[in-house]
Amino acid sequence: MSETILVTGGAGYIGSHACIELLEAGYKVVVVDNLCNSKSDSLSRVEELTGKDIQFHLADLCNADAMDLLFRQEKIDAVIHFAGLKAVGESTEIPLTYYQNNIGGTANLLESMNKRGVRNIVFSSSCTVYGAPKTLPLREDFPLQAMNPYGQTKLTIENMLKDLAASDPDWNISILRYFNPVGAHASGQIGEDPLGIPCNLMPFITKVAVGELAELSVWGGDYDTPDGTCIRDYIHVVDLAKGHINALKKLDDKPGLMIHNLGTGQGYSVLDVIKGFERATGKTISYRIAGRRAGDAPAVYADPILSERELAWKAELGIETMCRDAWNWQSKNPGGY
Ligand code: NAD
Ligand code: WQD
Repeated sequence: MSETILVTGGAGYIGSHACIELLEAGYKVVVVDNLCNSKSDSLSRVEELTGKDIQFHLADLCNADAMDLLFRQEKIDAVIHFAGLKAVGESTEIPLTYYQNNIGGTANLLESMNKRGVRNIVFSSSCTVYGAPKTLPLREDFPLQAMNPYGQTKLTIENMLKDLAASDPDWNISILRYFNPVGAHASGQIGEDPLGIPCNLMPFITKVAVGELAELSVWGGDYDTPDGTCIRDYIHVVDLAKGHINALKKLDDKPGLMIHNLGTGQGYSVLDVIKGFERATGKTISYRIAGRRAGDAPAVYADPILSERELAWKAELGIETMCRDAWNWQSKNPGGY
């Protein structure tokens, strides 16, 4: 296979795992990243693990000239678009930065693609576009609602892509709505490396386990769920990365626009995750039940049937593997990259 895939945000958490799957599946990989939330070491490690090279462009999607130049320099067949800012809380503090980076960057990317006749793209959307779920499991045709500026950017980009597909049948677009990606590559060489104190559950747990943080606050113990804590659909990042290969292959069938959930369909509570982590690793996690976090829905999980049917993709790895691999990465790399 000689297809060349441009991976935007390829140095990041999910992007680096996708690069491994792409290289192992025989694709050539070009990465563009401005390293605003990552280090290029992730890509060096992907190269070491796979024994294959990545063409890396240090550039910002917000720089339209740099994007045009990249598409003139490289012959790209399809794009997987991960690059974006992703912290919900931060997005409420600096909304304009989120709009400019995520929406502006995507608009530049799509313009450059259009100019060069590259019209195949897989986009990282999020379960956040479903807003506060009224019915579960969440199906792709459910109503959409943004709850914060980050969610607005995902929803707006989904709408840009829908408009683009409607305007020109040459475009083939896969929108993937991720649920809660966790875990790391089985090698323990690449993984999630958040700056500062993590906001997300699994990296917080691994930092408690490694002794960097004293105690986990469980945000709310009085929800209407079996153990009172919130339920989420955690998905192993390697399963998630593999879903992108299936989506890319499906673009060859010229589907126009398609939208799929990438989740397991299985919900776990915060306490389930803590217990799963303790079982998988033998570590004890100190935690206390604290007040609810603003904006948290009691339960969120996917209906994964459409992805199974149309993409021939299904998550394989369970919660203990997610926890074991997250810990394997954290314990081998206590300070990150
Ligand atoms: P990440 O921050 O680890 O990776 C994003 C990468 O994009 C980083 O390497 C960053 O440096 C780069 N980047 C950001 N803005 C850029 C710009 N303007 N130009 C060039 N590079 C830029 O995040 P991730 O967890 O790997 O997420 C990847 C994508 O998946 C994001 O779009 C995110 O919104 C989406 N997503 C993530 C989650 C999650 O929980 N991790 C869930 C749903 C959707
Ligand atoms: C998971 C559960 C918390 C930290 C976010 C984004 C979503 C998507 C995935 C990008 C919740 C609880 C957490 C802690 C806790 N990202 N928790 N103590 O909020 O489900 O989803 O990431 O698109 O858009 O909102 O993930 O990992 O922050 O929280 O009790 O210190 O863990 O309340 O129930 P969330 P999370």
